[in-house]
Amino acid sequence: MEKIKSIQTQEDAIQLLNVALEHEWAVSFEYTIHAYSMPKGKFFYQDPVLKRLQDVRAQIIQIGIDEMYHSLQLGIIITQMGGTPSFKTDEVIRYPRIMDNLKRDKKTEDLVTALYQDAEFPEGSFPKIQNMVLNISYDEVRHSDQFVAMMEAMRAEGSEEVLCYSSNPESLKKEEVQLLHEIMRDENELMHRYLKYVIMFSEHQDLSQRLFKNSIDHMRNWDKNSGILIKMGDVIRIENAVMDETGVEKSASPMPSFYPGENRLSALETLIPAEKSLISKYERLLPMVPDGEIKDQLEKHLGWDREHAFTQEWLLRNAQKIKGMI
Ligand SMILES: [Fe+2]
Ligand SMILES: [Fe+2]
Ligand SMILES: [Fe+2]
Repeated sequence: MEKIKSIQTQEDAIQLLNVALEHEWAVSFEYTIHAYSMPKGKFFYQDPVLKRLQDVRAQIIQIGIDEMYHSLQLGIIITQMGGTPSFKTDEVIRYPRIMDNLKRDKKTEDLVTALYQDAEFPEGSFPKIQNMVLNISYDEVRHSDQFVAMMEAMRAEGSEEVLCYSSNPESLKKEEVQLLHEIMRDENELMHRYLKYVIMFSEHQDLSQRLFKNSIDHMRNWDKNSGILIKMGDVIRIENAVMDETGVEKSASPMPSFYPGENRLSALETLIPAEKSLISKYERLLPMVPDGEIKDQLEKHLGWDREHAFTQEWLLRNAQKIKGMI
């Protein structure tokens, strides 16, 4: 992460916000992957603010969602200031041990807290930006304390050496597992692609709220699919990752840094074929899965995507009907 300290001009402010945004995209993605790589309801920690025992995995996902909201806030402000929000991301890493992921998560929280809190603005300039940056920074302070408490709890119960789920070469050979990986990449891509359009159309609240709902649905499908993958003997994949000899995986491009669509019509047009392609993948996957809980869940995801395709067709047609909507 580039360190930007002195903010003098509007360009400096946009640059600071974009550096932060690239970080926020990466951690929203990285934390969720760390959580999806560990068991549900197995490790608990005493949350310092909630003052109750919380499931480590569930809270890491919650923190990942906070980071997604930070990304959204930053993207909207950058757009309002006349800048272009970046969809590049910082590097995403997964270590074999759960403990090492938590250590990294705590370290990245402290790094970004410093980025936000050390930015120096001339007195009275960009007051709302200064305020936003400070507000976000205290979410990061809270997250850092949560990661510390999680690590303490795992040390106290002797779980330092516990490993993440790993990919089983036998499971990977199965067609349904390969297809589910493909679906997960598409769900994740669509979640972010919708967010781009939420940011682009943030001044048009009717449209942006509808697109945001679809983005959240894709997040939910991504989440449920990660659990299904574990039941199938595999674990969520980090796109474009390289694994070193110690089993550490690193990716500089865990999700696309570019999404098509530069205006209302071209953005809406791109979503329909993307939804249809995802629908056809679920339709191919379902006959490979035996009747039961997993199949029921996958059918729900397919249903939501069919609903998205319906909504998107009408959002596009309605925009085409109105003169001056570009
Ligand atoms: Fe954040
Ligand atoms: Fe954070
Ligand atoms: Fe969808």
